[in-house]
Amino acid sequence: MLQLLTLSRAARLVGVARGALQKRIRAGELPAFEGMVAVADLQRLFPNAHIEDEATLERYALIKDVAYTRRLRERILPDPEVLAARLTQISRDLARAKGLAEEYRGLLDRLEGRLGDLARTGARDAAELRSWLRRELEQGLRQARETQPLVVEDSVLRIMTAHVRLLPSQHEFFVEGNDTILDAALRAGLALDYGCSSGNCGLCKGKVLSGQVKKTRPHDYVLTDAEKAAGEILLCCHTAVTDLVVEAQEAGGARDIPRQTIVTRVKLVEPLAADMRLLHLQTPRTNRLRFLAGQHVTLKLADGAEAELPVASCPCDDRNLQFHVCRSPGDDFAARVFERLRVSDPVTLDGPRGEFVLHDGSTRPLIFLACDTGFAPIKSLIEHAMSLEAAESMHLYWIARDARGHYMQNLCRAWSDALDDFHYTPLTLENAGTEEERMARALAQVVKDHPDIAEHDVYVAGAMTLMAAAQKVLVSTGLPPEQLFAGYVR
Ligand code: FES
Repeated sequence: MLQLLTLSRAARLVGVARGALQKRIRAGELPAFEGMVAVADLQRLFPNAHIEDEATLERYALIKDVAYTRRLRERILPDPEVLAARLTQISRDLARAKGLAEEYRGLLDRLEGRLGDLARTGARDAAELRSWLRRELEQGLRQARETQPLVVEDSVLRIMTAHVRLLPSQHEFFVEGNDTILDAALRAGLALDYGCSSGNCGLCKGKVLSGQVKKTRPHDYVLTDAEKAAGEILLCCHTAVTDLVVEAQEAGGARDIPRQTIVTRVKLVEPLAADMRLLHLQTPRTNRLRFLAGQHVTLKLADGAEAELPVASCPCDDRNLQFHVCRSPGDDFAARVFERLRVSDPVTLDGPRGEFVLHDGSTRPLIFLACDTGFAPIKSLIEHAMSLEAAESMHLYWIARDARGHYMQNLCRAWSDALDDFHYTPLTLENAGTEEERMARALAQVVKDHPDIAEHDVYVAGAMTLMAAAQKVLVSTGLPPEQLFAGYVR
């Protein structure tokens, strides 16, 4: 019998991104059965997966942890009650499988005996059938021995994490440690509906269609008896005990994200370069910013100075928001950030706005083009894409007017060093020619590196000149216009 795994579970088991498995399926190297893959095929394709590739998974986890600054996550175990319930479930499955295996073994022994009896009476077909049965049994046992390490590994993962499938989207993710279902979904890059994250608003309601959950915190929002009877829960107040299927609403795009006004506090102002600051704001625990990667907000200081800035951090951490603030003449907001803003000062945030977001239905490889501070929304998109693990590969080009413009070079290099499928190329604009011509020359490098550019989705953020050049150069070399997404940043 085929042992099938969901793509998410298979990817986790062999320690690669889901996009990498999808690529092997498209290439015909890994058979898929209604979105599932067989353990035996996985073992054949990744014979040493559980030994060698775990490191890749760890690197992904580490990068996501850095993006997820709400708490630097140690790999915490689920609480004892959850662990006990998962062990009980696995023991039940094991007992059922053992019972079935013994029953089939007995049946096969009896069948072999009957065929032996028939063969002794001279029936040739029976003798052939008996040898065929023996061969098949031996092959089955050999295959079972080969896949055993992966099956054991999968059982351990099932104890440590629970798998959640969302309906109607069919999105999948894992709940680790004592994460709530909502936190785990956000960490996986999904845009579930929610509001307060603390059990007050009821916006994160979801219906559990199968599996077992556990309440992790009390909530003020009251579910009606009818809702409870139908299996509805607050996803921000429950964790998964077993694998789940949950019906829940997700944002289909920027239009589904409500406009919010939140008074945040300055957590940190950190120099990134001589004329660049990282502004780290923190929302109240019960009023976090729901946004999509790539969107921007208006920030207003107590004295009225304001600025429109893209969020430079991942939506997987909706409480800790980062912005890149560049000093320029006549910019009052930037002047305050550089000279006067202190930890705990209030900053009122209004938003989010903008349609420059990741099109997560696509599994095409991604190219990101950031020009100067266009890196801020691109960073958010990259961190979101890493959470989704859906892209086959990513290539970031950071185009700066001078070498000092790559103000987070170490981070880009760290991504590139840590991940096999991430590439980083810093580019500096040449001096000669108009800005349009210089941008076009920088983009020529992109076209040279990617002669198959039509197979990619390209995200461009920064100066108008970059966007105009990208439109002209990339589309003329074959990139379909609907695969080019642009976000203007001053
Ligand atoms: S997000 Fe408000 S109750 Fe869950």
